Amino acid sequence: MTTKTAHKSKLDNSRGPVLNDGTALKDLFEFDERSVSLRLLSDPEIYDLEMERLFTKVWIALAHESEVPKPGDFVVRQLGGDSVIVVRQKSGRIKVLLNACTHRGMELTRAESGNSTRLRCPYHGWVFDNEGHYMSAPCAEEMYGDIADKSEWSLKTARAELSGGMVWACWDPEAPTLADYLGDMKYYWDLMYERTESGMEAVGPPQRWVIPANWKAAAEQFAGDGYHVLTLHASLFEMGSFDVGDSSVLQGIDVSTPRGHGLLCRPLGNISTAMKGIRSEADAALDTLYKAPPAGLPVEAIERFADRYGPEAMSMMANCPPVIGQIFPNAAFMCTYILGAEGLAPDITIRTWNPLGPDKLEVLSWTLVERSASPELRGLTRRSTLQSFGSSGTIEQDDAEAWPSLTRVSRGVMGRQNWMRYPAAHEPSKPEGWPGEGLIYSGISKDDNQWNWWKSYYELLSDDSR
Ligand code: FES
Ligand SMILES: [Fe+2]
Repeated sequence: MTTKTAHKSKLDNSRGPVLNDGTALKDLFEFDERSVSLRLLSDPEIYDLEMERLFTKVWIALAHESEVPKPGDFVVRQLGGDSVIVVRQKSGRIKVLLNACTHRGMELTRAESGNSTRLRCPYHGWVFDNEGHYMSAPCAEEMYGDIADKSEWSLKTARAELSGGMVWACWDPEAPTLADYLGDMKYYWDLMYERTESGMEAVGPPQRWVIPANWKAAAEQFAGDGYHVLTLHASLFEMGSFDVGDSSVLQGIDVSTPRGHGLLCRPLGNISTAMKGIRSEADAALDTLYKAPPAGLPVEAIERFADRYGPEAMSMMANCPPVIGQIFPNAAFMCTYILGAEGLAPDITIRTWNPLGPDKLEVLSWTLVERSASPELRGLTRRSTLQSFGSSGTIEQDDAEAWPSLTRVSRGVMGRQNWMRYPAAHEPSKPEGWPGEGLIYSGISKDDNQWNWWKSYYELLSDDSR
């Protein structure tokens, strides 16, 4: 490869596993050229490494806490390669339990959700409380009466924390806290999903659908691919959903972090002339936010939101708000407005790309509103979000064509020798008055966020020490 870039990587490329055909993981990355082998999108050995080295080490978003409001409420989700039970305790806390009986390993429940104070294994009938402790078994006295200590029979439990109403889990006891893991991205994340004391709730259970694509095809895009919007989503310009219609849709502030979280902040007037019309030069930030509240936020809550975060944050929210991004590795989010069937309407969602194999992913997609939202705002937000980002949404459909296509090419003998290239590079530069931290890139959206996502990915996959 010959493309030169200004931005060299500082990755340690001397380590990492070697695949069965003798290819080292590091040979699938061109660090100076900022390229990644397409083979990463379909190789079963790589997939297995991801399950072992990545999905067991980082915080993964599993559920919205409003899905399990009462003690005993549970939902079953996928944490990397494992099925887990996300369950509300009597104390109000939420636990994440491995959905595997400690007797001989059967899944304790195959329901998607429910409410129960106990979990009874269908195989031999061992019973656990919903904190995961072993409680009883059929013929227990005859079978196990001479075993005094049964504490080791408790279910395996992941660390669980909340942020933005989402339940996150992590298997690694040495991983940082969730707040530390989110790092500089937490400030922006909170402005989207921790806006009020009462918090947000999911409008119904998440929409779920399966895409025949590798999970990273979706994840690398949501790390920061602003570039594809002009072409892959051209129909949005043709329909008028994005009616500015030029490359200003790519202009704004991109934010990334060393852990690979990524975010695009955009003046909404760059996307929609209607949004441009909402703000006049004379407007103060709060005036703008009263005319176009952050998606899903009732007008009545704006004053308290402003008190909570201060004028600099409100200026950002009015002028160049966080719109779309992803918490590494696979929790994507959007918080924006879109011109749809009912005019300019709020879109707000969090979704995860759950790996189901090298060439299959399941999307779980939540629509969110503030708990204090009126039925009208709730209904409008739900309809608008589903119209654009639901399983058959106007925006979603385009991406669901691209991701399987990348995956198909990556299976070909010649195709997998291709590279995914990220040569367009900025140096980080923080504009005057920008209130947030992170690696901040101003101007046209380049490839930095996505490359930072891959760097974080490589660091985890190549780490032989843990
Ligand atoms: S595998 Fe669960 S009781 Fe035997
Ligand atoms: Fe897209």
